[in-house]
Amino acid sequence: MAERGFIPFARPCLSEEEEQAVLHVMRSGWLTTGPESEAFEREFADFLGVKHALAVSSATAGLHLGLDALGAREGSFVVTTPYTFAATAEVARHVGAELIFCDIDEGSMCISVSELERVLDKYANRVAAIVPVHFAGRGADMEAIVNLAASCGASVLEDAAHAFPVRYGEKFLGAAGDAGVFSFYATKTITTGEGGMLVTDRDDVAERVSLMRLHGIDRRVWDRYTSSPGAWFYQVIEAGYKYNMPDLLAAIGRVQLKKAVLFKKKRERIARIYREALSDRDYFILPEDADEHAWHLFVVGIDENRLSIGRDEFVRLMAEKGVGCSVHFIPLFLMPYYRNRYNLSPDEFPVSYRVYLRSFSLPIYPSLSDEEIYRVISSLKEIGDRFYRKIL
Ligand SMILES: Cc1ncc(COP(=O)(O)O)c(C=O)c1O
Repeated sequence: MAERGFIPFARPCLSEEEEQAVLHVMRSGWLTTGPESEAFEREFADFLGVKHALAVSSATAGLHLGLDALGAREGSFVVTTPYTFAATAEVARHVGAELIFCDIDEGSMCISVSELERVLDKYANRVAAIVPVHFAGRGADMEAIVNLAASCGASVLEDAAHAFPVRYGEKFLGAAGDAGVFSFYATKTITTGEGGMLVTDRDDVAERVSLMRLHGIDRRVWDRYTSSPGAWFYQVIEAGYKYNMPDLLAAIGRVQLKKAVLFKKKRERIARIYREALSDRDYFILPEDADEHAWHLFVVGIDENRLSIGRDEFVRLMAEKGVGCSVHFIPLFLMPYYRNRYNLSPDEFPVSYRVYLRSFSLPIYPSLSDEEIYRVISSLKEIGDRFYRKIL
């Protein structure tokens, strides 16, 4: 039998079309933010049916700009879950706000609405923004979150880094709150290598983000170079940031956007195969399905009562069999910065802690071949069966 290669946890899905698009920009003489970024923004906004889409250098940058535009400042609070990547929380500190963490719902792995209610009762009108994370590409309960936010005058900034594209009623995730942010990091559902997009229907938010993402300058760089007279003149009206997306990357994004629905169908198919194939093993805890799911991650849990090994050892044995797995996420209450600043302990977040200890993420991306999919499944079952502890 031929030598079988390692199956990486993630692999970007790029073709000659993206290569040609980059080459076109390289030869155009304009590399940074310009016509490609503007076209990408228009196409993205049309796809989601939103008024504004603003391309940025990363989702982290977009979340930072979003919180700034929604008025999170020193003296205010930002509410999110600890079951997320550092980016979601750090941006609150960048604007000087303090964090409040809410535990997750065990099924959706997104923010628990009852926990959110409890927190809002306590902090009410000091909460500037709620930042729900659509974990793995499954939507948080946006209807409840938006209503709760409205009742205490808070804004909703969706961390939709995992959730492109997912319909949510008449809208899409990311477009259900005041603003939403997508990630185009190398492992995400569509990629530009690094990059992100902030979307909003609010003119005031779009205006502030547009200003702050490029040094607080009152004119777009492309506009300065193409207009006359006085093309060189600009004014800095705020101390902004350097968070723009260059055309080299936007060109990749435009091609990826055209493939987003096809990519999603492929991930849905893999998720379906995983679910069906693993459902006959009672030691696996499978992710909850949803009407719509981006399947950026397929997070499987192991029931420790039924296996004689834990998650860490399971992941190590998968790697030994040539399958790259990952863990999403190490909760933020286990990170020294947040643990120390807010004096957090795992007992305050029993669901997040339990889910973290048992979970790991399987490879799920459009270029995963059927042979690879079935190799992931057989590796999981071989390891599970070997360490199975029958409960009589
Ligand atoms: C939930 C979540 N939010 C935000 C980000 C930040 O995305 P980016 O790398 O584009 O800044 C990530 C990145 O992995 C993420 O997983």
